[in-house]
Amino acid sequence: MKGPLLNALTRISAEINSTKKLDVLLPDIVKITGDYLKVRNASIVLIDWDTLTINCYTGCSSYHNSLSVKQGVIGDVAESGTEYIVNKKSYSSSGKSFLALPLKIGSKILGVFYLTDKDENYFNYEDVLIARYIAFQCALAIEMHNIHNKMRANENLQAIGLLKSSVAHDISNLVAIVDVYLGLMEEEVDKSAAIYEYVNAVKSEVKRISILATDMLDLSKNKLVIHKTKFKISELVNELKLYSEAFSKTSNAKVEFHIKCDDEIVADRNRLFRVFFNLLNNAGNAVKENGIIIFSVKKTGKYITFLVADNGKGIRKEDIGKLFQPFYTSGKIKGTGLGLAVVHDIIEAHNGSIRVRSTLGSYTCFFIRIPQDG
Ligand SMILES: Nc1ncnc2c1ncn2[C@@H]1O[C@H](COP(=O)(O)OP(=O)(O)O)[C@@H](O)[C@H]1O
Ligand SMILES: [Mg+2]
Repeated sequence: MKGPLLNALTRISAEINSTKKLDVLLPDIVKITGDYLKVRNASIVLIDWDTLTINCYTGCSSYHNSLSVKQGVIGDVAESGTEYIVNKKSYSSSGKSFLALPLKIGSKILGVFYLTDKDENYFNYEDVLIARYIAFQCALAIEMHNIHNKMRANENLQAIGLLKSSVAHDISNLVAIVDVYLGLMEEEVDKSAAIYEYVNAVKSEVKRISILATDMLDLSKNKLVIHKTKFKISELVNELKLYSEAFSKTSNAKVEFHIKCDDEIVADRNRLFRVFFNLLNNAGNAVKENGIIIFSVKKTGKYITFLVADNGKGIRKEDIGKLFQPFYTSGKIKGTGLGLAVVHDIIEAHNGSIRVRSTLGSYTCFFIRIPQDG
């Protein structure tokens, strides 16, 4: 028993020690615990006391749910902080045994660790001790994560306070005026003349400035408020295609679009455009000659999944955890480090998730999932 137990606990400590984000870390911990205790149904439920909603992390995924924290056993544990150890008689019809343990730091309840569907339908004393130990570790990891986020927010607020001044706003407004004049020039100019190309090149650069200014504005907000509308995915894709034509001329990359779903989606269209604009730009910067970038869209259940992949230089494993921090930039002369930070905030504001997979020198893939109905 000692070997497998030590192995499970060491793996959990290693997970906590990694720089994984909670939506990756918690499912991993749940899986290791479930496998060790031979429990088929394990989950960690985190409570957002501001909105009274819960986020549930199972061994394979995380999902958001607007469940009242006052409901059911989980609600009871969340409210009272007491633990439930319920063993039903084996093989009887009286139902499944379960453990519901609070994730607590001092008197603050962060969530609930819930385990049921165990082989033999019985939690012995040792099982309870192990689950309790893991619950303590999880609570520490979650608290560390929260503190880190608060520190990050504080540091960023100071830095971003500079941007928050009207500068970003002014740039944004001025650039919008330049864009209108460029549109007029585009109409006037003979499409076969060389100057038409130049006007388009200027338009594309102006778009980048305008996106940078709006990214700065978004990052200066404590909480990003998004404006959702219903639109067809192809409307967004067409806008990206238009941009990618101009972009292919100035970078080494060709963008391939694999669109497997053209449903309607409820989202902030302008902000989603900026998400993919940033991801495509980063991919374009990462590839060498004849780079290929793939943009794909498909539907997975109630979610729309987007993928932006490139066969460029890739990202070092140890840098993956830093990607979404504001001002993290690497390997670029003109990098601001704001793109992925704002991408992260926009996706979070859509209740979505973003994941990265990359192999150095080979490829990088960003997966984004957002609820179709907003
Ligand atoms: N597709 C990619 N391939 C390789 N590195 C990437 C990719 N996307 C992002 N990165 C890395 O992440 C860093 C942060 O990106 P971002 O936040 O957009 O800031 P910036 O592009 O201004 O540097 C980049 O500087 C780069 O090192
Ligand atoms: Mg960028």
